[in-house]
Amino acid sequence: VATTPSGDPTATGRLATDPQATAALLVEALPYIRRFRDKVVVVKYGGNALSDGAGGEGRALASFAEDVVLLRSVGVLPVVVHGGGPQIGDLMRRLGKESEFRDGLRVTDAETLDIARMVLVGKVNRDIVSAINVHGPLAVGLSGEDANLITAAAHSVELGYVGSVSEIDPTIVVRLVAEGLIPVLATIGADEAGQAYNINADTVAGAVAVALGAEKLVFLTDTEGLRADPADPSTLIRQAGAADLDALVAAGAASGGMAPKAEACADAVRAGVDRAHILDGRVPHALLLELFTDGGVGTMVVR
Ligand SMILES: Nc1ncnc2c1ncn2[C@@H]1O[C@H](COP(=O)(O)OP(=O)(O)OP(=O)(O)O)[C@@H](O)[C@H]1O
Ligand SMILES: [Mg+2]
Repeated sequence: VATTPSGDPTATGRLATDPQATAALLVEALPYIRRFRDKVVVVKYGGNALSDGAGGEGRALASFAEDVVLLRSVGVLPVVVHGGGPQIGDLMRRLGKESEFRDGLRVTDAETLDIARMVLVGKVNRDIVSAINVHGPLAVGLSGEDANLITAAAHSVELGYVGSVSEIDPTIVVRLVAEGLIPVLATIGADEAGQAYNINADTVAGAVAVALGAEKLVFLTDTEGLRADPADPSTLIRQAGAADLDALVAAGAASGGMAPKAEACADAVRAGVDRAHILDGRVPHALLLELFTDGGVGTMVVR
């Protein structure tokens, strides 16, 4: 993985002026298109990628939607799982409520759960579904409560209504995908009694990828990938095995929001997902560059 074409802001201009380069790029994509045809690719779209994208939220989201629709159009089966941490934080602030975090997880009382659920299911999920459906009747939004997709349990007593995944029932997602639709999942789960929990979206994305037997799991976040030293961009890890990630997490190198991603990648490839990736979702079309070009971007995780 030598090149990173993603950072090249002139890429589009080059294509427009050099037809041969455009043709070469399309031909380069061909083996990848054939390889991923009819394969499920789970994409976790982080709340940070959504809000920090170049040109503001609208542009980042529109570019993400184009990528997902293009994937679907060439026969890939995308399933989107989204976060929304910054958006929950925004509404909390507007309502004058303090956010409190422990080990990267938001302490969630009943009121915070209501806010998280409203923001994730009622706002972020709708925004993503609408952005995709500008291109046609493709996306269907779901909460993990729908059709018992995500059964949750309390993560720990101190965190309140923060959930962990007890079970994923992918039936509804499989049905939607079989109909040619693009499921977009908000990561609220419910326990057997119907109590809702807010669950970390990285953890859900990993569990959904495993439950669906996905080919790929892709995290779109707000850094270029996993760093051996979180503070040093030159320590970007281009490729890692599951055991390498375990070691990094154990050593505390993947902290805060990166820890659940590293864990989800390691668990997913161990459970048979072919590859997992952590990419900078703020880079326009990062998803296409990773899937359809020879030069990968970000961190690739293999078994
Ligand atoms: N080793 C590391 N390498 C890279 N980033 C790291 C590392 N350790 C911690 N981080 C932090 O993890 C952050 C990404 O996780 P974060 O939870 O903030 O975003 P997200 O999961 O994409 O969004 P959301 O939580 O809304 O879904 C980075 O911005 C960075 O500050
Ligand atoms: Mg996060």
